[in-house]
Amino acid sequence: MRTAGRVRLVVWVAIAYLMAFPPLTETRMEESMEPHPTSTEKPETEAPRIELKMGKCFHMSREHCPTDQRCKRVDPVSVFCCDVDSFRLREALAITMTQNTTNLHVLNATIKELDVSQSTFRRLTSMALTDGNIGKIVGQFPKYSSIACLNISNNNLSSITPQPPGQRPFAYLFTLSILDASANNLTEFPLSLVQSNRKIHVDLSGNNYLPCKHFQKAMEANNGSLLQFLNHENTYCALDLRFNWFQNVQIVQIDHLQVQKDLNKSCQDIKPANINCTCTTMLELVLHREATYVVAVDCSQRGLTQLPTGLPNNTVNLNVSYNNITSLQAIADDASYDHLRWLIADHNDIGSIVELEGSKFIDNFRLFSITHNKLRSIHPYVLSNRLETAGATMLIAENHIHCDCNTEKVVKPWLLEHNTALLDYKDLWCDNNMGPVVELKEFQVCHTPRDWTDYIYYIIGLEALVLALLISKVSYDYWVFKTAGYLPWPANKMPRLPCDWLCE
Ligand SMILES: *[C@@H]1O[C@H](CO)[C@@H](O)[C@H](O)[C@H]1NC(C)=O
Ligand SMILES: *[C@@H]1O[C@H](CO)[C@@H](O)[C@H](O)[C@H]1NC(C)=O
Ligand SMILES: *[C@@H]1O[C@H](CO)[C@@H](O)[C@H](O)[C@H]1NC(C)=O
Ligand SMILES: *[C@@H]1O[C@H](CO)[C@@H](O)[C@H](O)[C@H]1NC(C)=O
Ligand SMILES: *[C@@H]1O[C@H](CO)[C@@H](O)[C@H](O)[C@H]1NC(C)=O
Ligand SMILES: *[C@@H]1O[C@H](CO)[C@@H](O)[C@H](O)[C@H]1NC(C)=O
Ligand SMILES: *[C@@H]1O[C@H](CO)[C@@H](O)[C@H](O)[C@H]1NC(C)=O
Ligand SMILES: *[C@@H]1O[C@H](CO)[C@@H](O)[C@H](O)[C@H]1NC(C)=O
Ligand SMILES: *[C@@H]1O[C@H](CO)[C@@H](O)[C@H](O)[C@H]1NC(C)=O
Ligand SMILES: *[C@@H]1O[C@H](CO)[C@@H](O)[C@H](O)[C@H]1NC(C)=O
Ligand SMILES: *[C@@H]1O[C@H](CO)[C@@H](O)[C@H](O)[C@H]1NC(C)=O
Repeated sequence: MRTAGRVRLVVWVAIAYLMAFPPLTETRMEESMEPHPTSTEKPETEAPRIELKMGKCFHMSREHCPTDQRCKRVDPVSVFCCDVDSFRLREALAITMTQNTTNLHVLNATIKELDVSQSTFRRLTSMALTDGNIGKIVGQFPKYSSIACLNISNNNLSSITPQPPGQRPFAYLFTLSILDASANNLTEFPLSLVQSNRKIHVDLSGNNYLPCKHFQKAMEANNGSLLQFLNHENTYCALDLRFNWFQNVQIVQIDHLQVQKDLNKSCQDIKPANINCTCTTMLELVLHREATYVVAVDCSQRGLTQLPTGLPNNTVNLNVSYNNITSLQAIADDASYDHLRWLIADHNDIGSIVELEGSKFIDNFRLFSITHNKLRSIHPYVLSNRLETAGATMLIAENHIHCDCNTEKVVKPWLLEHNTALLDYKDLWCDNNMGPVVELKEFQVCHTPRDWTDYIYYIIGLEALVLALLISKVSYDYWVFKTAGYLPWPANKMPRLPCDWLCE
């Protein structure tokens, strides 16, 4: 590895030497270029200048294609070619291009490897090879190349990474201000372009396999302000799984990548002031929907005694672990918690979850972790609605709740019933060293034995039955007395009571 590196270094030194001291013939040509390094400003001719000012390279449409030959000179400085392959292009350019030619447009070139280092292109300020089929770009534009506008749009180009590693086709395009590489199939971002210190407009729309991390790198380099994406609303990049904690490769619109900058600002608005929470954007990928950006806020280990408020818009994830927070009230009261779905509040002093009743969080959460806190009780009615639907997880380990008969009768069965959502339900403890709640025994906490209460139900049932029999017997007696005029047994054997006189 090390010797290979040294060999490469030697090669680089040689290249650097050749560039610093080029052969004499070349020097002469370059000198003629040097007085005009910023050729965009050269007021040589009118027509192509105007086109550059509109942000376009020299460009002709198909109806102007030359009919008799492959290339034609459309004005003293511009050449236009149509439907050529590599050989025909070289041949035709040798005839049509002059020392004065600065603009070239080749429509529908079929070229397997376009070598941009050839001297034909040396004097161009506007170079366009569009709407054709170019396999790849090889070589490197010559040093002091004066190209200001380069259009390689719509060529089914799959990569502009040069073959020998380290060679960058655009490295010497110091005057380039517009690159249109749209409608291709590029998988590599021409990062060397943005390492220069000049303003450049790049159109990379219609290349859906460019990695997002390349865009991010380009946006971060040079403050990002020197690089402007033309057609950015139609420019997408491929987000891979190492970029964030999401599963699939996804195509996202590049404007989403700019969001982090604005977010850093609103992150400082979190109250209390100066707690320096960190905020990160995440792209939330929902199947069959465009990815949207959401925010994760980390306020852990900040010595907080209450929940932070004024979270950035779209905060879905909040980590407030290792603080001294005592209450969850802000989640119900502060509207910036409305989108929250992941809350990590481990290692705090929270005493109760009843404050969450009626909050949006309690209806929507995916993960609610409140381990190592000071919960005194668990209120199943607050949580049941959410835990009974799929996709919600709650962690409650290492809380020491007060255990009584109600805990044994209500909380323990509830824990067991929701054991898939309450992953650590076995580690919810009773205070006073009574062990885990799920192992709580009736006799430890309930003083009225169960069989006695069962017995009460039998007595009540029996009494109800006797009463029903009594009522029907009396009704029957009454009916017989009314229709037949006598009282059936045993009513007729009953002694007369003083009150009977009154009744009659
Ligand atoms: C590049 O060529 C394409 C296709 O011909 C054209 O639509 C586009 O306007 C050109 N872009 C520039 C910057 O000249
Ligand atoms: C492009 O050029 C090739 C020849 O190089 C030709 O066969 C093809 O028809 C041309 N495409 C169009 C759209 O004219
Ligand atoms: C180049 O331009 C100069 C001056 O504009 C002119 O004298 C010369 O003839 C041109 N050369 C060619 C080959 O057209
Ligand atoms: C685009 O390039 C691929 C190979 O890179 C080739 O198989 C395919 O035919 C090309 N598409 C067109 C429309 O020329
Ligand atoms: C671009 O590349 C992808 C996969 O590499 C391929 O499926 C697609 O057909 C290509 N597009 C064009 C226009 O060649
Ligand atoms: C970033 O931009 C500021 C002002 O726009 C400038 O002062 C600073 O030097 C730039 N930083 C870099 C690395 O270009
Ligand atoms: C945002 O802030 C983080 C640190 O909190 C920093 O690493 C990052 O570079 C900042 N991003 C931008 C775009 O300012
Ligand atoms: C937050 O950052 C500011 C400035 O960098 C610093 O003064 C302050 O002490 C930090 N606060 C905490 C809680 O770390
Ligand atoms: C947050 O959202 C509100 C309402 O949608 C909007 O008025 C506000 O400007 C947003 N704040 C930021 C920093 O984007
Ligand atoms: C929350 O923050 C703590 C302390 O910084 C960290 O150990 C923990 O991994 C974080 N949890 C998540 C889910 O990010
Ligand atoms: C926060 O809690 C830790 C232990 O959990 C304790 O050592 C510390 O004194 C508490 N800080 C405050 C300000 O209460």
